[in-house]
Amino acid sequence: MYNDLDRILFDKETIQKRVAQMGAQISADYAGKNPVLVCTLRGACVFFSDLIRACDIPIEIDFIATSSYGGTRSSGVVKLMKDLNTNIEGRHVIVVEDIIDSGLTLQYLKNLLETRLPASVKLCTFLDKKERREVPLDSDYTGFEIPNEFVVGYGLDYDEKYRNLPEVGILKRSIYE
Ligand code: PRP
Repeated sequence: MYNDLDRILFDKETIQKRVAQMGAQISADYAGKNPVLVCTLRGACVFFSDLIRACDIPIEIDFIATSSYGGTRSSGVVKLMKDLNTNIEGRHVIVVEDIIDSGLTLQYLKNLLETRLPASVKLCTFLDKKERREVPLDSDYTGFEIPNEFVVGYGLDYDEKYRNLPEVGILKRSIYE
């Protein structure tokens, strides 16, 4: 897999340190609130499993899945593939993403979850490609802002590959062009 990368953007240690800080921040902000952390399948699963173990307060977890991408391109239409099992009415919810690109996925999810009358909905993303944003949306907790490069690893895929890379790397153009 490493042969397909131009370079590593974030190594294991850098990721681990940042995720620990994010978990500590969420723990401080949500002490006594028993928040529901929602993992957006599939990309966020690696970040999510590290983030929840970096939280040292009681939390609950659930999973939701949307789809809009095929290969490198977004269709622009977000579809709900799997809904939550938890009733979030009156609950504090944190939606956890691997990456915000156009912002369409998180905007869709935030709007959907807010119709269910939660106490609050906040957004947490491991990576943020701000310059690609198509809708005005900001994350409440962000691991790293990144330039507009094609990144894979730590849950992020290209054509369903590279999700199991422990690092985040920039994919060689020759792989997807
Ligand atoms: C990716 C990623 C985010 C979304 C971000 O999901 O996991 O959910 O795209 O892009 P956006 O801000 O432009 O909406 P994808 O649909 O590729 O599914 P996956 O999580 O299964 O990889």
